[in-house]
Amino acid sequence: MDVISVIRTKRDRGELTDEQIDWVIDAYTRGAVADEQMSALAMAILLNGMNRKEIARWTAAMIASGERMDFSSLSRPTADKHSTGGVGDKITLPLAPLVAACGAAVPQLSGRGLGHTGGTLDKLEAIPGWRALLSNEEMLNVLDGVGSVICAAGDGLAPADKKLYALRDVTGTVEAIPLIASSIMSKKIAEGTGSLVLDVKVGTGAFMKNIEDARELASTMVELGTDSGVRTVALLTDMSTPLGLTAGNALEVRESVEVLAGGGPADVVELTLALAREMLDAAGLKDADPAKALADGSAMDVWRRMIAAQGGDPDAELPVARERHVVTAPSSGVLTRLDAYDIGVAAWRLGAGRARKEDVVQAGAGVELHAKPGDSVEAGAPLMTLHTDTPERFAYALESVEGSYDIAPSGTDFSPGAIVLDR
Ligand code: URA
Repeated sequence: MDVISVIRTKRDRGELTDEQIDWVIDAYTRGAVADEQMSALAMAILLNGMNRKEIARWTAAMIASGERMDFSSLSRPTADKHSTGGVGDKITLPLAPLVAACGAAVPQLSGRGLGHTGGTLDKLEAIPGWRALLSNEEMLNVLDGVGSVICAAGDGLAPADKKLYALRDVTGTVEAIPLIASSIMSKKIAEGTGSLVLDVKVGTGAFMKNIEDARELASTMVELGTDSGVRTVALLTDMSTPLGLTAGNALEVRESVEVLAGGGPADVVELTLALAREMLDAAGLKDADPAKALADGSAMDVWRRMIAAQGGDPDAELPVARERHVVTAPSSGVLTRLDAYDIGVAAWRLGAGRARKEDVVQAGAGVELHAKPGDSVEAGAPLMTLHTDTPERFAYALESVEGSYDIAPSGTDFSPGAIVLDR
């Protein structure tokens, strides 16, 4: 087998054979296929696509590149959730302990933010002492003892994806449905969860900008999961507006704790409960009542134990940025648009995200919103507050904030759209 013939097959819109796929994934993982050759193949896939048979084989080859985890020793059914990424998407933080409080085991392998979307691990690292890196044995111990664990995927899980994702990130080949679906599902299937709920984001702040692409991505992933014996469900959810009232690491932890305490923004609570119900259903725990577990403090108890089990202090003061800048409303009226992408870019520029993998994020940086679409605003009243340790970043962040919102005259009839768009 030679890599040039594999590249040529896809370049010329052909179908890759099982042998070609198995060989190229294995050879790339071993270093026998060079990055520039894999980049050419990834670009050919982005431009010419793969059919479902090719995607299934590609996913299986990426799973086979590493180890598979085994949760069969646990007494509870396992349920996991994966979001395709968005702005202010802190849902994993309240969701994992909530679903554990209702009787499932939640092994939540999470990632870091890159670009305008935040990462769950960066958020939790704002909690003093909390550790994202656990050995497989530590992960299993936390999962068994507490019911939920949120940690980084170990190096042994789908190493082909780790290498390929880093390559796609710097070659403009992230936004290919076959590559996104196989990347996400190879890690989830290798992780060994029994059931999986996918939160496929749609809108300006998401990878998928329109509902047709989101539906195609969702159905590809559901088919891959189901065919591998994982009970898989997908929700399509709105990401045209940031979730909740915060985008940034410590800011989002604070908001998540509010949700666990029975408060928090209505959209965050609604999506947390919708995903919890799907996860519990898929895990066979149809009688569980997640709304009660939020209200009676049992989800908060699991959160506190989970944070402590990973070295964090659930009572510690969260970091606060050294500098703030308040953006005020230029006119009175009704807020009719608040763009998720623009707010995500502003939070990123303030220091909440990284431009390169090795950058260090600021725990306190980000954007705090004082109004959401549908709210009335007064001229001169605060619309959002920008937080950073490095005030020279304000001007650059403000460029992104400038065109991020629309205010219609008072009395305009406007109601924000639904959060869950389809199932
Ligand atoms: N998240 C992943 O894990 N992989 C992708 O390709 C895109 C988002």
